[in-house]
Amino acid sequence: MKALVLSGGSGTRLRPLTHTTAKQLVPVANKPILYYVLEGIADAGVTDVGIVVGETAEEIRAAVGDGSRFRISVTYIPQHQPLGLAHAVRVARDWLGDDDFVMYLGDNFLLGGISEQLEDFRTRRPAAQIMLTPVRDPSAFGVVTLDDEGLVTGLEEKPEFPKSDLALVGVYFFTPAVHDAVAAVRPSARGELEITDALQWLLDQGLDVASSTVHGYWKDTGNATDMLEVNRSVLDSLIPACDGTVDEESDVIGRVVVEEGAVVTRSRIVGPAVIGRGTRVEGSYIGPFTSVGEDCLVADSEIEYSIVLAGTAIEGVRRIAASVIGRHVQVTPAPRTPQAHRLILGDHSKVQIRS
Ligand code: G1P
Repeated sequence: MKALVLSGGSGTRLRPLTHTTAKQLVPVANKPILYYVLEGIADAGVTDVGIVVGETAEEIRAAVGDGSRFRISVTYIPQHQPLGLAHAVRVARDWLGDDDFVMYLGDNFLLGGISEQLEDFRTRRPAAQIMLTPVRDPSAFGVVTLDDEGLVTGLEEKPEFPKSDLALVGVYFFTPAVHDAVAAVRPSARGELEITDALQWLLDQGLDVASSTVHGYWKDTGNATDMLEVNRSVLDSLIPACDGTVDEESDVIGRVVVEEGAVVTRSRIVGPAVIGRGTRVEGSYIGPFTSVGEDCLVADSEIEYSIVLAGTAIEGVRRIAASVIGRHVQVTPAPRTPQAHRLILGDHSKVQIRS
């Protein structure tokens, strides 16, 4: 059994963050999403991992290395153009050989891991096995229909008129039968070779595609709103710890992690929240569901329900909420508005002025 992790793509929906960072490396609770993916794979007992990389290859390599930190062994597989998930399987054909494998999209966040599903796949060994979850906006995903007994009857990629509310989660289990399928599919309307079409091809050949429903928490972290929501869910199970320093004038309430070298002075932190390594929080309020990355400065400011990436400074800003702030950003107050209003008003004007 191998694992194929997809870490290519350009992350257009997470721009501008992903202009400079691979979307799989955007942190949730100060840890890149891709690390959760690799930990989930290692926990399921799979150690032979291929990571398909695209234009952000160097960054992914620098972050993951040879994989020993995750107790896995990593092989990097370049995909020169992001031509779809089925294309990624084609590109990995030689490395995969005739092994069964789990394909895991590197920007998918799945709480609870994949061990159970993997065991299920090993026992039943259908041609392919997919994971599903009910969603509110199925047309943004691959959509699956099931018969009365729960067997997959059809799949469509981002249909305009979805036939069910069951979305494909970005974790797929395959036998080598998938290689004929990915060789057979043709580009979709968005110009990609869709894994959804490859699964439909397997069905059309009369092969079994099994499914299981995700009970834990799942998100495709494609956009900022989803990122904040995933951050919230991870912080929700935070185990409090203080490896930094908090002065006597500060209040730390609830589940808060203050990482090594972080310094909190004259501040109030209401968890769940994490304050990254080497970060300074001075005279500020950090509210629930906030992750502040390493080496940041938050001074005379208020922030909650937000993600702040490494090296950023927020000074003198009252209140930031539901925000995702990139690396090495500086946030400061706008210059004060002028004290006098200069008016040249015609007869019978009605003007409302904020005073
Ligand atoms: C891809 C798949 C889609 C699946 C989704 C899960 O979509 O094509 O079927 O539901 O991942 O994250 P994409 O992220 O390429 O839009």
